[in-house]
Amino acid sequence: MKKGYLITLEGFEGSGKTTIAQRLHQVFKDSGFPVFLTKEPGGTLAGNRIREILLERESEGLGFKAELLLFAASRSENVRINIKPALQKGSIVICDRYYDSTTAYQGYGRGIELETIQYLNHFAVEDVIPDTTFFLDVDPAVGLQRSALFNQGKEMRFEDEFINQKKINGKLFLERVRDGYYQIAQQEPERIQAIDANRDINLILNDIIKILNERLSVRFHKKLLPA
Ligand code: TYD
Repeated sequence: MKKGYLITLEGFEGSGKTTIAQRLHQVFKDSGFPVFLTKEPGGTLAGNRIREILLERESEGLGFKAELLLFAASRSENVRINIKPALQKGSIVICDRYYDSTTAYQGYGRGIELETIQYLNHFAVEDVIPDTTFFLDVDPAVGLQRSALFNQGKEMRFEDEFINQKKINGKLFLERVRDGYYQIAQQEPERIQAIDANRDINLILNDIIKILNERLSVRFHKKLLPA
């Protein structure tokens, strides 16, 4: 059914994910591929409104169950309206965060049972599974510092919580999220490629392009130009 190729980017705040998504989008365009860039939460009218509820400081104290359901609601709209149709047309789709974020943050981070998370992830996306996922692995403390420096200050609910985080089983929230990403990466080593994101952004991008060229040439018979 699927003619296109879905690439998702995962990692902590401040891992450079969003900049890399934008640069990668440009590389695909310059190389002559049809490409569509989107992000989560967001990407649709309803998704952008949900994004405000999820990320703005006014929502301090939002329950974990409501948070999980809102991320899933935003994602299902993005899949239905943007991602699935683009893939059906044969486009490359780059999504800045996808359901692995929910597994890592709401599952491992918040402690919601993983069976519920998996059920809802599947319910939201159905068969729209990423072909390749890059996990940009940055030291969470470094990432948080970068993110606090660059964020405009409105969408700060998660950052506030990370700064005031409490330990569960001896681990801070972001340490649990990181453990979660490592677990997911171990379970699906073919799909998920971990990239050392403590380095210069050009080096990170080169690694990503190299991996994609190996994978894409099979289906698309053409290659990405260097960044
Ligand atoms: P965003 O401003 O998009 O941050 P980033 O640049 O780090 O991607 O904020 C998204 C926040 O929402 C981020 O803290 C991670 C969190 N998140 C979840 O907890 N679960 C999810 O399913 C998604 C998509 C994001």
